[in-house]
Amino acid sequence: GLPRQVRIHEVGARDGLQNEQRTVPTAVKAEFVHRLADAGLTTIEATSFVHPKWVPQLADAAELMPLLADLTGTGGADAAGPGGRGRAVRLPVLVPNERGLDRALELGVREIAVFGSATESFARANLNRTVDESLAMFEPVVARARAAGAAVRGYLSMCFGDPWEGPVPIGQVAAVARRLYGMGCTELSLGDTIGVATPGQVTALLDELTGGPGGTADRGGGIPVEHLAVHFHDTYGQALSNTLAALQRGVTVVDASAGGLGGCPYAKSATGNLATEDLVWMLNGLGISTGVDLDRLSATSVWMAEQLGRPSPSRTVRALTHR
Ligand code: HMG
Ligand code: MG
Repeated sequence: GLPRQVRIHEVGARDGLQNEQRTVPTAVKAEFVHRLADAGLTTIEATSFVHPKWVPQLADAAELMPLLADLTGTGGADAAGPGGRGRAVRLPVLVPNERGLDRALELGVREIAVFGSATESFARANLNRTVDESLAMFEPVVARARAAGAAVRGYLSMCFGDPWEGPVPIGQVAAVARRLYGMGCTELSLGDTIGVATPGQVTALLDELTGGPGGTADRGGGIPVEHLAVHFHDTYGQALSNTLAALQRGVTVVDASAGGLGGCPYAKSATGNLATEDLVWMLNGLGISTGVDLDRLSATSVWMAEQLGRPSPSRTVRALTHR
């Protein structure tokens, strides 16, 4: 069966904008996140506390977070802000190391994500580390964040294919996934970073990790499906099919990017994440609730596309716009 409800983990402001050619002004980012919240999204990945030279598009993280304080209620007396939204929106941020954690905690961030790789090539390209070294870098970050009461998501990239290494063996992916989870991550997001996966692979990986149908994990040794999320990029048009396969295996947290923003610097042909609108269209049709107002969301993506000077690649946004 399928779940009744799905929580969308919106990544447009982070995974989307980090890959856009044009750097967006901080005030526009803040408006984008507010509009996403107004459209009903409850988990909105806001930015990254990474090295500003590695991702210049998100170098304004410390300026952005205070502009979002009204959404989480962390901004002190004025937190409700004009209009007093005062809703408990979750605003996770990416943090690779202790330096990033310090910067984030100083600003009152309550939820972070570390981001590991299933392959050595991407660990090197993205983190300047081996897989082992990057896990060692995350360990104190996860421990300190948990001790500070923050939730910690662990991303695992290149779960299905890697631009340098090709197909990635399932055992290799599962081994890194178990190490990230074992470190204390409260949620593990399985990334198809370059968008090459097909549904059978998704089912096989989930079964391997959870010990579900066909999996080899020992009883009790698996990762509970409640702690797994999926993160698909739509390069080969497989993201929705892959999502459906994951839902059929009990996954209820799905990553998506408003308007399908983004790309991937390591795979020239790669498009952005699964578009949130395309996801909501499918979930609405299946009677699965998300709390998202599709028309408001789509209008937000049209507005953002104008800011970026290129049309949204989302089929659903285009269809709704030209109704
Ligand atoms: P490094 O060059 O090895 O850094 O980069 P280092 O540890 O040697 O430090 C060098 C200098 O950087 C030091 O300054 C540090 O203080 C500074 P110095 O002492 O020389 O003056 N520094 C920092 N400054 C600000 N904030 C920080 C920070 N860290 C160090 N956090 C590092 C290593 C991890 C920092 C770098 O590789 C990096 O920032 N990488 C981030 C790459 C990134 O953001 N990629 C995109 C996100 S992952 C993704 O998109 C995939 C995902 O969507 C899932 C999927 O699709 O698969 C999540
Ligand atoms: Mg991604």
